[in-house]
Amino acid sequence: MISREQNELMTRIGPGTPAGRLLRRYWQPVGLADEMQGPRPVKAVHLLGEDLVLFKEKNQYGLLERHCPHRGADLAYGRLEDGGLRCAFHGWLFDVDGRCLETPAEPEGSRLCEHIRQRAYPVVEKSGILFAFLGEGEAPAFPRFDCFVAPQAYTFAFKGYWDCNWLQALEVGIDPAHASWLHRFFVDEDPAASYGRQFRGTSADSGMPISKVLREFARPEIRVERTDYGMRLYTLRRISDAHTHVRVTNVIFPQAFVIPMNAEMTISQWHVPVDDTGCYWYSIFTSFGAPVDKETMRSQRLKTYPAPDYKPVFSRNNSWGFNAGEQSKQTFTGMGFDINIHDQWACESQGRIQDRTREHLGTTDKGIALYRRLLLDAIRKSEAGEPPLMIFNEEKAAELTGPPAIDGIGPTARVDQYWKDCDAKRRRQSAWAA
Ligand code: FES
Ligand SMILES: [Fe+2]
Repeated sequence: MISREQNELMTRIGPGTPAGRLLRRYWQPVGLADEMQGPRPVKAVHLLGEDLVLFKEKNQYGLLERHCPHRGADLAYGRLEDGGLRCAFHGWLFDVDGRCLETPAEPEGSRLCEHIRQRAYPVVEKSGILFAFLGEGEAPAFPRFDCFVAPQAYTFAFKGYWDCNWLQALEVGIDPAHASWLHRFFVDEDPAASYGRQFRGTSADSGMPISKVLREFARPEIRVERTDYGMRLYTLRRISDAHTHVRVTNVIFPQAFVIPMNAEMTISQWHVPVDDTGCYWYSIFTSFGAPVDKETMRSQRLKTYPAPDYKPVFSRNNSWGFNAGEQSKQTFTGMGFDINIHDQWACESQGRIQDRTREHLGTTDKGIALYRRLLLDAIRKSEAGEPPLMIFNEEKAAELTGPPAIDGIGPTARVDQYWKDCDAKRRRQSAWAA
């Protein structure tokens, strides 16, 4: 349980708030490269409580404050032409850096535009996600994590909206016990039909469906430790004296986790505040085996999170598709077979900002407890002018690789070594990760 003040401190992210200032020190996903295809790559976006417009000009991305500096009209309705975004009200033209290039209704020879600068933020593309930097000063370097260095054919990016605060959305990913309950399926499917779906394949070094492991071994031992990049979690499910299921997951501070999707793929997922009460998840799926079948992955996900807004088909407006008959016979939730909907319900049903003064954390929440300590410590450091976690220059960032995200069954007696061997073997056999 935490105080109301701490809950406010951690969850409020608008400009000028302590957590908002902290999150602005990191690159934040602002869109998918997929959204910037088509004849008019201009999109209104809302990020960290700010109204912005994202656009693509030639091969550069621009991210500008949305209200035109002339008289405040919405630049998201502007015309993409002549090297920038032109306001539809009086034609002022802005480039990707926010420079005003023309004020065409002003008299010939006017130098007004030399004095005009629209607020602009840098944007870079990494593995299909567009990352923006909304902070002051220099942006931190990107680490050499697998999801950023894998060749394009081996990654796939997608996103989806959740109607709740970013912190509870992140916290579901560092709560390893819930997978045995929230995502319980009473019947195992054929793992051969599991492509692109979480918790349906088989664990590494075994033929056992992960759905069976989760269902039958529902009291995991959880260990957590701090790392250079945030934290690592080990979730151990003892199958027998000889064999233990081990799941290794990670938090990339401040807002992402890296988890296994199956023996071959990992998911790196950011939880990005739109404002205080809504967030998008952005995922990069990274394959160590075959190139990713992007069309299959995309069409699976568009069914529940359709473009252009990637807002879910199931939500609190339709009780997340809850079906009591299904709950009695097929799934623990009664909310279908897409585990994203289960997680979404778990987070959204807590309320738009979870009241953490009323919660009672258990042993299985030790990852959440450690994460909140890291977050509060980083907010304190950031406010005191000290560097918080994960603000690195190029040299230090280049040392950060991996991180290993493992789902496998190994010998109980050597489980601490097993997951490292499992990671090393997957890298050796990979076309790009060795
Ligand atoms: S309000 Fe944008 S050009 Fe006048
Ligand atoms: Fe989950």
